Amino acid sequence: EKGGFEHFMLKEIYEQPKAIRDTMSCRIANDGTHVVFDELKWTPEDVKSIDKILITACGTAYHAGLLAKYFIEKIAKIPVEVDIASEYRYRDPLTDHKTLCIVISQSGETIDTLAALKEAKRRGARSLAVTNVLGSSISREADQVVYTWAGPEIAVASTKAYTTQLVALLLLSLYMGQLNGELDAELEGNILSDLMNVPDQCQQIFDHVEDIHAYANQFKEKEDVFFIGRSMDYALAMEGALKLKEISYIHAEAYAGGELKHGTLALIISGVPVIALATQRNVEEKMISNIKEVKARDAFVVGVVQEHDTEVAKCVDAIITIPKTSNFVVPIMTVIPLQLLAYYTAVVRGNDVDKPRNLAKSVTVE
Ligand code: F6R
Repeated sequence: EKGGFEHFMLKEIYEQPKAIRDTMSCRIANDGTHVVFDELKWTPEDVKSIDKILITACGTAYHAGLLAKYFIEKIAKIPVEVDIASEYRYRDPLTDHKTLCIVISQSGETIDTLAALKEAKRRGARSLAVTNVLGSSISREADQVVYTWAGPEIAVASTKAYTTQLVALLLLSLYMGQLNGELDAELEGNILSDLMNVPDQCQQIFDHVEDIHAYANQFKEKEDVFFIGRSMDYALAMEGALKLKEISYIHAEAYAGGELKHGTLALIISGVPVIALATQRNVEEKMISNIKEVKARDAFVVGVVQEHDTEVAKCVDAIITIPKTSNFVVPIMTVIPLQLLAYYTAVVRGNDVDKPRNLAKSVTVE
């Protein structure tokens, strides 16, 4: 049942190329120029009348929502607010009929996400669920559903569900931008052609798995690991830190590069591992200065960059390379080495990778 893999988590990490292909192929026109969402019955007016998008979810799905904010605001130019479901439901939110509420949930059963969806609907919002489970409670409650075609996810730590959520949300952003007229056709074609290359490009990451294994060995005795990034890489840093915490039990924290000197820099001492995500070209120089700040305190820095990124490579101790693609598409691949790092660190520490302590796959009680 594990298809020759030692754990479900590793199997599911390696299933990502197929899961990504399955989630996108049915939603890209045959000529590759635009997105088609047969399941969404939206007119241009429907999308134009959305004033605000509220995204709400828990855990890893919430981290997918944080990235979707960048996708939607940059591509469809609709303001987006992202909220943790258990916070949203109790904060007396400003939601009305001009709000589109997007909930994200792998299982479709997370109680806080379901309750947040009901609360948004009660306040008059329209709703859309991005979920992996047909017929789940959340899929039945939402007005519209976009399925991720990841297949069953067994390991508690979410991997292929997250990457397929990113794919679905990026396609959804393009679709909204197409309908409300905010999206340039050339940009759309470029993003789609990059997206279609992702399943094959993932293999290049898997080809370097031994490097990641080596970092895991190096990190196994560490007490803290820091993840830093800016823009979309900051959202990915949060996901990388969560993955490491939940299965390796090593304390990990994510910081926006610019926030370091507002507190966290005090914790950076000799030998502390810092994973510096620097895939986003527009903030690359700023990331380089953040990397220099932590290097000056003698941290051990692993840079995660797109291929050919020599400037960052010059100032880090080790490097993980992501195949070259555009800023919108790179996050879908950047997370894969972070998943593998968490996985191998948990394995070398002898942990029960698929069933980490104290955690359940689906959280149906508050
Ligand atoms: C982390 C993880 C959790 C889930 C969260 C939401 O690896 O799996 O953080 O993402 O419990 O679950 P769903 O997506 O089923 O609503």
